[in-house]
Amino acid sequence: MAHILVAYASKKGSTTEIAQAIGKELEASGHIVDVADMGTVTSLTGYNAVVIGTPMYMGKMMSDAGKFVRRHYKGLEKLPVAGFIVSLAPVTKDPVDREYAQKALRASLAPLQPVAETVFAGRLDPSKLSWFQNWMIKKAKSPIGDFRDWTAIAAWARELPGKMKV
Ligand SMILES: Cc1cc2nc3c(=O)[nH]c(=O)nc-3n(C[C@H](O)[C@H](O)[C@H](O)COP(=O)(O)O)c2cc1C
Repeated sequence: MAHILVAYASKKGSTTEIAQAIGKELEASGHIVDVADMGTVTSLTGYNAVVIGTPMYMGKMMSDAGKFVRRHYKGLEKLPVAGFIVSLAPVTKDPVDREYAQKALRASLAPLQPVAETVFAGRLDPSKLSWFQNWMIKKAKSPIGDFRDWTAIAAWARELPGKMKV
């Protein structure tokens, strides 16, 4: 039984719910899990593994991820780390978009070498966005809706303990 931290950042809540779903699945595998906004994490002492996830905004992972890695690098380099990025790339089904999102994830977590990394489809809800954000997504012809695939999220989470060797 391991103690696992799922550290996330989110602006509109969809990544928070994905982090919570990953936490639930890890708990169901018999592990002790803390799901926390990465900005509130002060120490990694006692954790055996860490999952890091944020959404993609304007082509990048949220800067919270890079800050978290720099702040806790000494602890993270000794632990198995997995990363996920939430974006609309899986919705377009264009492999170039997916590879771009994956690259943004790797860049934010570098120089860590995650044992697992993935891109999850997110949610774009115009009612939660500012006028300007709505203007931007309209201009970019972004797909609107909740595209989160809870089956894929749970399946990825179930494989983590094996990949993290915990
Ligand atoms: C202003 C804005 C910019 C975005 N930029 C991107 C982007 O560059 N690439 C992408 O794939 N998704 C982009 N998205 C979609 C978000 O990644 C998606 O809505 C995600 O689920 C948001 O996560 P959150 O609810 O945890 O904040 C953008 C969304 C907004 C509102």
